[in-house]
Amino acid sequence: MPRLSVYFVRASLVYLILGFTFGGFLLVNKGITLSPMIWSFLPIHIEFTFIGWMVQLAIGIAFWILPRFSNNTPRGNENWTWGTFILLNVGIICIVLQSLFNVQPLSFIGRVLEAFAFAAFVIGNWRRVKPIGA
Ligand code: HEM
Repeated sequence: MPRLSVYFVRASLVYLILGFTFGGFLLVNKGITLSPMIWSFLPIHIEFTFIGWMVQLAIGIAFWILPRFSNNTPRGNENWTWGTFILLNVGIICIVLQSLFNVQPLSFIGRVLEAFAFAAFVIGNWRRVKPIGA
């Protein structure tokens, strides 16, 4: 597994733990109201489980298993996908900070960073999506 996929998968596992923890707080709070504030964790739970865990895991594994080139850069220009890793995780952090501290533009900035992260992944890996022998 390439080093970058290791980072993606490890980060996704951290978000899995965080996402389920926040989900647990939400679930408990529905049965026994600990604090009304806990409901504001919902966007954080969604961001951690969906983008942080599931999307990030899919990207990390895709980078590993998509067809490789038979030259000395088998995964093309990896800088694009390094950009994906950095932009995606900074984006997630921005969105979570917005939910926690209500700093207004952070959520928008986070979504823009995430959009750039996905675009960078597509640009960096588009040519790897090809049939056998092509
Ligand atoms: C694959 C993992 C998960 C994903 C993608 C996910 C995603 C979501 C989403 C999108 C919502 C909002 C639903 C809505 O607004 O109608 C939600 C709500 C919630 N999630 Fe999760 N979740 C996951 C796992 C979990 C786990 C493991 C727990 C508990 C430990 C949990 C507890 C909750 C609770 C309590 C709510 C609020 C439900 C309500 O509206 O009353 N989730 N989750």
